[in-house]
Amino acid sequence: MRIAVCPGSFDPVTKGHLDIVTRASKLFDRVIVLVVINAAKTPSFSPEERVQMIREVIGGSLPNVEVDTFSGLLADYVRDVGAVAIVKGLRAVSDFEYEFQMALANKKLNPTSDTVFLTTASQNMYLSSSLVKQIAQFGGDISDFLPSQIVDRVASRLCKKE
Ligand code: PNS
Repeated sequence: MRIAVCPGSFDPVTKGHLDIVTRASKLFDRVIVLVVINAAKTPSFSPEERVQMIREVIGGSLPNVEVDTFSGLLADYVRDVGAVAIVKGLRAVSDFEYEFQMALANKKLNPTSDTVFLTTASQNMYLSSSLVKQIAQFGGDISDFLPSQIVDRVASRLCKKE
């Protein structure tokens, strides 16, 4: 049983995340999408809401994927569940330095797992949760960026226009 963890803030989950999780589910026997609670960030959605949105989006379509939340060191979680890999999406060269640093630190903290980078699909190259949130705040159309199940919820939470 080869387990992988897909960690992130998922505030909210985007089509880019969904693409990476879907592809990871084909490479590994079991995939845990991990909503990591970062005390330094002020999220728009609670961890429970983020988990619920991911579960709603995945539905029954990916039977080997589950969703969890965690606060602490990713390397500890990965060791505790016996995962062999941390799966991350790489969008552009600008992601690389930060991701490379995290991959090395995670390897140092838990040598039994590796970080696997999947190249983002070209249509998602520029996509990020924070970009989607900015567009939503000003009433822009976010339907191309988010899974259809959560578009209305995200728009109504974030839109400041009356
Ligand atoms: O979606 P994000 O915000 O880019 O995800 C970043 C995340 C959650 C993967 C990263 O911040 C993380 O792993 N946090 C857990 C704390 C930790 O282990 N930090 C050291 C990483 S080397």
